[in-house]
Amino acid sequence: MTKAVNVANPFPDSIKVRVQKLMSRMGLDEKIGQMSQVNGSGGWINDHLAWSLRESRVGSVLNEVNIDVINELQRLCVEESRLGIPLLIGRDVIHGFKTIFPIPLGQAASWDPEVIRQGASVAAAEAASVGINWTFAPMIDITRDPRWGRIAESLGEDPYLCGILGAAMVKGFQGDKLGQAGSIAACAKHFAGYGASEGGRDYNTVNIPENEMRNVHLRPFKHVADAGVASFMSAFCDLNGVPATGNAWLMDDVLRKEWNYDGLVVSDWESVVEMTVHGFTKDDQSAALEAVTAGIDMEMASSSYIDHLEKLVADGKVTIEQIDKMVARILSLKFELGLFENPYIDPANFSALLNDEHLKVAKEAAVKSCVLLKNKEKILPLSKSKLQSVALIGPLADDGFEQLGTWVFDGEAQHSITCRRAIEELLGDDVKVNFSQGLDNPRSTDHAGFAHAIETASNSDAVIMLVGEEAFMSGEAHSRAEINLPGDQEKLIEAVKATGTPLIVVIMAGRPLTIEKVVEQADALLYAWHPGTMGGPAIADLLFGVESPSGKLPVTFPRMVGQIPIYYSHKNTGRPATEDSYVRMEDIPVRPPQTSLGMTSFHLDAGFKPLFPFGYGLSYGAFHYSKITMSHSSIVIGESIEVFADVLNTGEHVAEEVVQLYVRDLVGNVTRPVKELKGFKRVRLVPGERERISFTLHTDDLAFFDRKNNLITESGKFHVWIGGSSEASLWAEFEIFGKTV
Ligand code: NOJ
Repeated sequence: MTKAVNVANPFPDSIKVRVQKLMSRMGLDEKIGQMSQVNGSGGWINDHLAWSLRESRVGSVLNEVNIDVINELQRLCVEESRLGIPLLIGRDVIHGFKTIFPIPLGQAASWDPEVIRQGASVAAAEAASVGINWTFAPMIDITRDPRWGRIAESLGEDPYLCGILGAAMVKGFQGDKLGQAGSIAACAKHFAGYGASEGGRDYNTVNIPENEMRNVHLRPFKHVADAGVASFMSAFCDLNGVPATGNAWLMDDVLRKEWNYDGLVVSDWESVVEMTVHGFTKDDQSAALEAVTAGIDMEMASSSYIDHLEKLVADGKVTIEQIDKMVARILSLKFELGLFENPYIDPANFSALLNDEHLKVAKEAAVKSCVLLKNKEKILPLSKSKLQSVALIGPLADDGFEQLGTWVFDGEAQHSITCRRAIEELLGDDVKVNFSQGLDNPRSTDHAGFAHAIETASNSDAVIMLVGEEAFMSGEAHSRAEINLPGDQEKLIEAVKATGTPLIVVIMAGRPLTIEKVVEQADALLYAWHPGTMGGPAIADLLFGVESPSGKLPVTFPRMVGQIPIYYSHKNTGRPATEDSYVRMEDIPVRPPQTSLGMTSFHLDAGFKPLFPFGYGLSYGAFHYSKITMSHSSIVIGESIEVFADVLNTGEHVAEEVVQLYVRDLVGNVTRPVKELKGFKRVRLVPGERERISFTLHTDDLAFFDRKNNLITESGKFHVWIGGSSEASLWAEFEIFGKTV
């Protein structure tokens, strides 16, 4: 190796010129080194890693969080390698670093881009303070299958919501400009289709027709690409027979050529070499060839690039121009992040981890993420002054670990404030809190604690039950075939219900659960997802009316697993089910004639409706929608229309409501969904307050991919709804005319 040359001096040139100058001095081996991302050795630097860094065989290290180790990794590159190129330091900072926010699906339930932006910004600042400069988030896979464990990490089922919230997360991570203190590069993943894994089994096969790919799954990715996300990650799955990591249609035709995306594309963990396991390539060398040909700039974890790219170039299968383009993208990101000027981190330049401000943002996110699903006879909010005692029961009432949820590598249970602690603090000496765990953990079937739980409930004025899934039950490779409350938690609920004490159930989970029976039993039901470090105080404030619930479901809740996939923006079919047309199993006589069963699209044993629709969520306010009007009854392609409606808080509490706008294109070149979300706004209304809400729809907002997969806006009639969920009933009609009419 030749003597180290330090290039850390700031050049006056543009990033493009700096990249070119640097690349002109790089050998092929050094370029290929940049294309390789390796796993850290976990709190130290082993000899092989140190050697690889000095020899410029590594462009990025992931999974190292010790600041001294990270600074030393950078030093080895900057001061001891020939060209002194700093490292990208990657980490899955998915919903917080030390301060843990609600799981992404929970954050999506806030329908609040600003809350999501702030959360990502806190996460970025905390992660940056130890030297991390690249996160693998947001995950914007559309999924309509709650069996899939990674639904927890997603932003839900809807491409529009997912795109807006994903872009907000990108903005939070990256700030106004990469390179500013506390900003880190974001990564849109997993490109693409991963959320449609067969049967909800992780890593499984995905078959999605191109038209659906474009109208649904690719839309949020396009949105965040346009919003400036610094990188993309390929998906593990095979998409229509071609693994995403080797899928040139996806990576090159769509991402690079159609979208002109010029950021870095990284593979998922070993997904390059897994193409051989898929049966798509015969060995690591051919896997490297397919990945480079498709356009994967950097290989995560495996070493097929390092091991085989030089030979592939020598054999003429990969050109230097291909390599140069890829390396240029990697180096550009390093320049944008300011790593050449500031490769080292001084924690003194950052605010403390888990500081009060960060915890406040996390609490607000948790408050806004919780969704009130039932509130019989306005049992909630509980009033401190009307209670002498409250029972707190359930395996998740006092568990700081489980409330953090999946994908938590760096957050620690010791910092969590549990519901028990928060409720005790909130109630002080005024109301006695009687605690009983009931079950040792959510999966337990041991009823030894039931008697105490029953006694506790019987001796209290109200019961708050904290049940749900443990954190490990969702997330990567953590899919479930049954998505009910695990263990004997339903039995515990039944036993407590039998005491007759008013019953409030709070569920913490990483996905929608099939909770129809629980809904029947509970007087009130609050869905808290896995709410993170500040879950306890958020839930306490909501239950006792310090805050009003305002979350809305970002995903449809099925009544039973057999309904999956069930989502609001389905197609109408030729035989749509309606209230009048479907027959309940219990109404069917024995030996019925073949044609007596309704002949529309529903399940005999589940009907056609979900348990809770997308967009649903109650509040302590009561919102009445009226007077939908439009600025025009018709517009011409290229114009906008404004849609208005009144929202009145007829309740007794100050509350926030997420007002939603849905559209249906009645006749399309390809069939169109029965409803599509096209806008949403949060409003805060005091009792009796009315606000006239307006949404602007441009005809471009109504564009879709036609049967030739061209993006078009069609003339014709549209229905528009404004309301508090995807079952909004207040509607109007407008028409679009083509330019020539
Ligand atoms: C595999 C996961 O699919 C991906 O989302 C994650 O970012 C990488 N591993 C790195 O940990």
